[in-house]
Amino acid sequence: MTKLKLHIKPIANKEEIPFDLLELADPSRSQINSYLNKGFCFIGCVESKTVGVLVLNKISSTVIEIKNIAVKDTEQGKGFGKALLKYSEKISQELGFEKLIIGTGNSSIGQLALYQKEGFEIDRIEKNFFLNNYTKPIFENGIQCKHMVILEKKL
Ligand code: ACO
Repeated sequence: MTKLKLHIKPIANKEEIPFDLLELADPSRSQINSYLNKGFCFIGCVESKTVGVLVLNKISSTVIEIKNIAVKDTEQGKGFGKALLKYSEKISQELGFEKLIIGTGNSSIGQLALYQKEGFEIDRIEKNFFLNNYTKPIFENGIQCKHMVILEKKL
């Protein structure tokens, strides 16, 4: 079977923002809006259909963060998440950043596996981040999501 290529591009206008995909990664619309307003948003398309999204926020002159990365449920496990991570690295390097960071919940086992497979190293844990910043409890893999695990990759 031929592998389909993901075409990644910056969003051209606000109507293109795929909130349904952003909400797969983050249940809080207010958090999403706050980092969308500060950052760069990209979509990943296959044969003109949007299947992935990526939001990057500048943290400092040297550090940039992946605030949201998501792939449509039916398209997961096909390598598109890895393609979005690789694109994040490339664009961040081109913009002159030295470090790329990404945070995920303590309960996000698959995501923690993926990011480490892609060369990210655990840097620190923000204790109780999800308890303090989200109104509803989040559960994944039978584990309550309480803490933010922050991983980093030197570019
Ligand atoms: N154990 C080991 N490896 C795992 C596990 C696990 N439990 N779960 C997934 N993986 C690995 C897979 O084996 C695969 O690696 P491999 O190719 O070496 O086998 C890899 O993770 C998945 O790779 P892709 O197919 O490229 O990823 P996908 O297209 O499914 O996208 C993503 C990954 C973005 C996390 C997707 O699953 C998704 O959208 N999930 C819902 C939203 C989400 O949780 N987003 C991230 C939140 S954190 C944030 O946004 C900053």
